[in-house]
Amino acid sequence: MKLQDKVALVTGANSGIGKAIATRFAAEGARVVVNYHSHEDDQQAAAEARSFGDESIALVGDVSNREDVQRMMGMIVERFGRLDIAVNNAGIEIKKPFLDTTPQEWERVMAVNVSGVFFVTQAAAIQMVKQGGGGKIINISSVHEDIPFSGYTSYCASKGAVRMMMRNLSIELAPHRINVNNIAPGAIATPINQAVLDDPAARAQAIEEIPWGRFGRPEEVAAVAAFLASDEAEYVTGSTYCVDGGLVRQVTKY
Ligand code: BGC
Repeated sequence: MKLQDKVALVTGANSGIGKAIATRFAAEGARVVVNYHSHEDDQQAAAEARSFGDESIALVGDVSNREDVQRMMGMIVERFGRLDIAVNNAGIEIKKPFLDTTPQEWERVMAVNVSGVFFVTQAAAIQMVKQGGGGKIINISSVHEDIPFSGYTSYCASKGAVRMMMRNLSIELAPHRINVNNIAPGAIATPINQAVLDDPAARAQAIEEIPWGRFGRPEEVAAVAAFLASDEAEYVTGSTYCVDGGLVRQVTKY
């Protein structure tokens, strides 16, 4: 068990990659705090969280809202007394031609994907510094922190920002032994890609661009997250790990 007794926060853990990471972390012995943006029913959210392990809890809150983040961090410390790992997984994507993108759409993507990472990372790092002994910050960015994706300018800009946040923080937080890394998933079969998965032509085209010839599975991203969150990754900081079946290499061919 790689993460025995560690306390790990996973944002946006209700579906897709976040859910797979919470599941894997629990299997590795972690006490997992699953954050949901919203949930119709608090009781049900708590029950769902326990499916990730007896000691796992659910916290409903919006990562783009600093008060929500402060409140959630307070509850984590109250419940567990510490935080060892924070996974910034919550994110949104808007497909829209640049010329039609509204200020509201741009601001929403930036609020969740960039400010959300800033607020959660800052609150987590303050706690990690206070408790001592280091910690792990893992951002789920995207291959689009680096490669362009026409029609997704707000999304790509937000992921590029997360790339630089990670790089800066890896230096700034190194004296505190807080490792900061990104995982850049390619095309993973999750709800964010549902429209493509449901459209046979779009699906076939997407697969054609992936050297590995298939979509990735959320569990394949979770496996890298489990390593980066573990003590084995002690000397690993400041980098992005692609889990993309070679997609970024294929794109650079053009
Ligand atoms: C996006 C997906 C896209 C994938 C590969 C991800 O970051 O969320 O919509 O399929 O990158 O391009």
